[in-house]
Amino acid sequence: MPIQSTQEKFIHELGDIYDAEQQFLKGMQQMQQQATEPQLQQMLQQHITETEQQVKNLEQVFGQLGQQPQTEPCQAARGLLAEAQKTMKEAGTNEIRDCLIGSAAAKNEHYEIASYRGLLVGAKQMGQQQIVQLLQQNLQQEEQTAQKIEQSAPQLLQKAMQAEKGA
Ligand SMILES: [Fe+2]
Repeated sequence: MPIQSTQEKFIHELGDIYDAEQQFLKGMQQMQQQATEPQLQQMLQQHITETEQQVKNLEQVFGQLGQQPQTEPCQAARGLLAEAQKTMKEAGTNEIRDCLIGSAAAKNEHYEIASYRGLLVGAKQMGQQQIVQLLQQNLQQEEQTAQKIEQSAPQLLQKAMQAEKGA
């Protein structure tokens, strides 16, 4: 069915991120299990907890619009997670795998950031203050997570380089 109105467009994009968040939740659980570096594990664990709340926030946004929560299959998230799974298998050492998990997680976060920024434009235009607040909460967590993961990248890489020398 063609998307005829800006409201329908908003709900479509909301369904997309609602699906993406649930996929990323499963993806992060796998990443968390395969990560070996304690800080990386802890970052992922914290964001798993946050993501569970984010899914609930999105359900509240649907509720504000008088809609039942409905997922819109998100091919982008599917692709990002397929790639993450592939690189985790390809990694020859734990240290390399940790680096690859970090970069996969950062890519996921940036997809989410772009999605929430787009949704926020719509929510602000509609003058839906409560929806703005809920989406803003999710966006802030994604931005903080992306920043933390990116900041950890040099250390993860250094550990991989040290392991290489020791091998
Ligand atoms: Fe996230």
